[in-house]
Amino acid sequence: MSEALYHPEHGFYSSGRARTGIKGDFLTPVSPGPVLGNLLARQADELHRILGRPARFRLIEQGADTGALARDLLGSLRGGFPELAAAVEFHFLEPLPKLAQKQKHTLGPLQRQHAVHWHASWDSLSAGDLPGLFYSCELLDSFPVRIFRHCSGRWLERVVGWDPPRFVWQEREALAPELQSVLGRTPAPAEDHVVEIRPGATEWMRAVAQSLSHGLILTMDYGFPAAGIFEVPRPAGTLMAFREHRQQSDPLADPGEQDLTCHVNFGELEELGSRLGLQNHGLTDFARGLTALAAPLLQQPPAPPEPWIRNFRHLTHPSFFGHTHKILAQGKNLPHDFHPAILGAAR
Ligand SMILES: C[S@@+](CC[C@H](N)C(=O)[O-])C[C@H]1O[C@@H](n2cnc3c(N)ncnc32)[C@H](O)[C@@H]1O
Repeated sequence: MSEALYHPEHGFYSSGRARTGIKGDFLTPVSPGPVLGNLLARQADELHRILGRPARFRLIEQGADTGALARDLLGSLRGGFPELAAAVEFHFLEPLPKLAQKQKHTLGPLQRQHAVHWHASWDSLSAGDLPGLFYSCELLDSFPVRIFRHCSGRWLERVVGWDPPRFVWQEREALAPELQSVLGRTPAPAEDHVVEIRPGATEWMRAVAQSLSHGLILTMDYGFPAAGIFEVPRPAGTLMAFREHRQQSDPLADPGEQDLTCHVNFGELEELGSRLGLQNHGLTDFARGLTALAAPLLQQPPAPPEPWIRNFRHLTHPSFFGHTHKILAQGKNLPHDFHPAILGAAR
């Protein structure tokens, strides 16, 4: 999965070809228009206000692809949130040079209005002396996974073999240490239940936590809440391949030519965050979270223009992104009574 998506020359993402959006291989919540960025700006402004309007405030995006979400967020600041606009320092974490180039092109003149930085790795980002908001959209689902199947009381790992002229699935005995995080959560999974583990998640959570002295971490993606990975039998797991807007039958076919993705285990991220001392503010779905952020706009005249409403519906409707996509909000060193607007009224 790592080679197929990120090989420097042949990787699905490294090639720099359009992958997201109508002209790409799949739509993401960023594709339908600027509303997600507009609403994230509202969340960022609330956080900035709660923290006492610090003079410097970091916005960090990882996995920005074309940079459209950053453009939509930054583009909302000057008109609507002048205090935040004056404090913002924007950081892209982008290891792929062709995508960094694309993001520069997408941001255009916004780079002259705001301090914008690109980082190829965490090294230059981890100073952690500034507050801010770290966010990602459909990042974690593209982290490489390892796949395990429960079979007659033990776990087997699915690995990739080569049977010329094609790659094929093979199975081998799973080694216990790699499974601790999964086994710890389940007394007896169903026969043939398949789970995926994201080895990169632990280091990622640590690096994210270090990138801010205090602030909020928003992870937007599709996946399961805490115990969800064992709720229903999943003999096929959740690894999927996409190409030209169609799900493909064989994730091992045509490496580099199709997207590979796997549902996110939000419970795992909450657990990792807790271990690092992060606050778990909560998990919501796009329908509830984005409606909560948009409420002040929708309740007061003038009503937002029709294209904005259409874009909002696309994000929140149950048959589009509304229920599949979730938002995990984690905090670092935030006031204990802080309840991010994106999670709606406290229950
Ligand atoms: C499914 S796309 C989502 C793009 C965009 N955020 C959106 O929602 O339209 C996943 C993106 O995550 C990027 N990505 C994956 N692993 C990454 C990593 N470790 N650091 C930075 N970007 C990464 C990929 O290159 C790709 O651009």
